[in-house]
Amino acid sequence: MYSSQKGLINSTEPQLIIPLPNMDGAYCPIDDEGHYIQLHTIIASGDAALVVHREGMAVKMAIVYKHYTLEEAEENRSKIRREQEVWRRIQSDFYTPVEGIVHCLDIPGDTIEMRYMPGGTLLKWLEHRARPSIQLQKRWFRQLAIGLHNLHQCRVIHSDLLSRNILMDGSLNVAICDLGASSVMPIDTVMLDAVDDYNCSIWTDICQLGLVFNEIATGRITGISLYNHGGSDNSVASFPSWDMLPALSKRLWAWDIIETCWREGGYGAAGAAEILAKLDKVKVPCRSR
Ligand SMILES: Nc1ncnc2c1ncn2[C@@H]1O[C@H](COP(=O)(O)OP(=O)(O)O)[C@@H](O)[C@H]1O
Ligand SMILES: [Mg+2]
Repeated sequence: MYSSQKGLINSTEPQLIIPLPNMDGAYCPIDDEGHYIQLHTIIASGDAALVVHREGMAVKMAIVYKHYTLEEAEENRSKIRREQEVWRRIQSDFYTPVEGIVHCLDIPGDTIEMRYMPGGTLLKWLEHRARPSIQLQKRWFRQLAIGLHNLHQCRVIHSDLLSRNILMDGSLNVAICDLGASSVMPIDTVMLDAVDDYNCSIWTDICQLGLVFNEIATGRITGISLYNHGGSDNSVASFPSWDMLPALSKRLWAWDIIETCWREGGYGAAGAAEILAKLDKVKVPCRSR
């Protein structure tokens, strides 16, 4: 179970930390085998993990520098091992990807090897590209709802479902990534009523999904977090009140789908799967956005 602060508070992309030139390589991270990581292979670097592009894969590993103490290295490595546990639960073999979730190819040592997603994050896409058509928006809604439903079926709560944790392949398909803050619940958990130690549940996941849907449908990145309000402990999630959520125009094709995500328990016994049923029924005006 995740033991450090869970919520990642701001919604910006992790910054790539470019090490200062240094003769002894003290600021150059090293991999599992103690070799320096070539800087041009680094895709992203966060608080504890970095992701490198290697042999056609994306490899997530702990950030470790040569000067780290064993404890410092172990702290970051243990976070990767925790994430490996989540992958073990949701993908029982490495040949069969789970629909809507990035394909994990292997988890050798303290690393996670994934299919490389060349389209980058959904956040970047929304910030820098032309607005997606409603057809494409609907496709993304569907893929994300399927991915989240599959996670919940495996008794996993994602807890950090943000557009920067959604990746795109080369054909504009989206998939959920970053299980670093996820909770693996006992396999017989009734997910409808379950909460983890950080007050996260399928309903906080669906609420976060609604925020992502809103970003897709409006193009506006709100940066709303379930973690940074109502109290001093940032790692505990709370369900946002209506006044904290973005105003929804009823002219938006997806307003009803999004609003239901933001009502705790709104999708009923089927959870995220019910989003699919609602998507099938929604009438999209021919030319509106
Ligand atoms: N499979 C992948 N393909 C391409 N880029 C990836 C992949 N996995 C992660 N990334 C990149 O690395 C970043 C950080 O990965 P993530 O799993 O979210 O780590 P963190 O726990 O540090 O947030 C992502 O936002 C994305 O830019
Ligand atoms: Mg992330």
